[in-house]
Amino acid sequence: MKISYYGHACFMLEGSKKIIIDPFLTGNPTATKKPEYIKADYILISHGHGDHLGDGIKIARQSGGTIIAPNELAVFCEQKGAKVHNMHIGGAYIFDGVKVKLTQAWHGSAFVDDQDIIYTGNPCGFLIWMDNLCIYHAGDTGLFGDMDTVIGRNNQIDVALLPIGDNFTMGPEDAVIAAKWLKAKTVIPMHYNTWPLIAQDPHLFKEKVEAQTQSKCLVLKPGESTEIY
Ligand code: NI
Ligand code: MN
Repeated sequence: MKISYYGHACFMLEGSKKIIIDPFLTGNPTATKKPEYIKADYILISHGHGDHLGDGIKIARQSGGTIIAPNELAVFCEQKGAKVHNMHIGGAYIFDGVKVKLTQAWHGSAFVDDQDIIYTGNPCGFLIWMDNLCIYHAGDTGLFGDMDTVIGRNNQIDVALLPIGDNFTMGPEDAVIAAKWLKAKTVIPMHYNTWPLIAQDPHLFKEKVEAQTQSKCLVLKPGESTEIY
């Protein structure tokens, strides 16, 4: 599987299917890709905030792909003309060989513009199984104990994508604890350095993860990819 980092919380997984997660490209100062050229079979959206929903509806419409999201957010996307599959936390579903399970995230979820706040249910994270590999995208979340007792102990995670930006999500110290609990083979940091408010040194995070946990830590710059087997 090829894992590409498109900046902020956006990753593209390319294996037997193409899966994009939280495609915030338009308006993302660190993004290297334009949404016009992106096609995906599945578009996973963790919550309604603009830096996650992003170009999701546009990418779904131009690819004919399906948005997978918590129910209220999925309904919101359907009302905007996207094909959707509604799920909720704790539920899993197999999409043509790809299994997706929604996990909890401690955060908010709303579509916010100049005039309104439209709440879009609970935010989530994702466990994704494709081509015998397991990827965990934590979404926007603070640290929670179920990363140990529910997610970490019951899944053999190959790659964990963890926010480290602080302020809105876990900071690096809590993300090191998350890494300890999740026991993923590889940890990739996300949700940092998009704006000064979430500035972090990912290499310092990498040192701590590799000193204090069994996981390897891979720092990807926006536009970079890695292959996992
Ligand atoms: Ni958010
Ligand atoms: Mn966010």
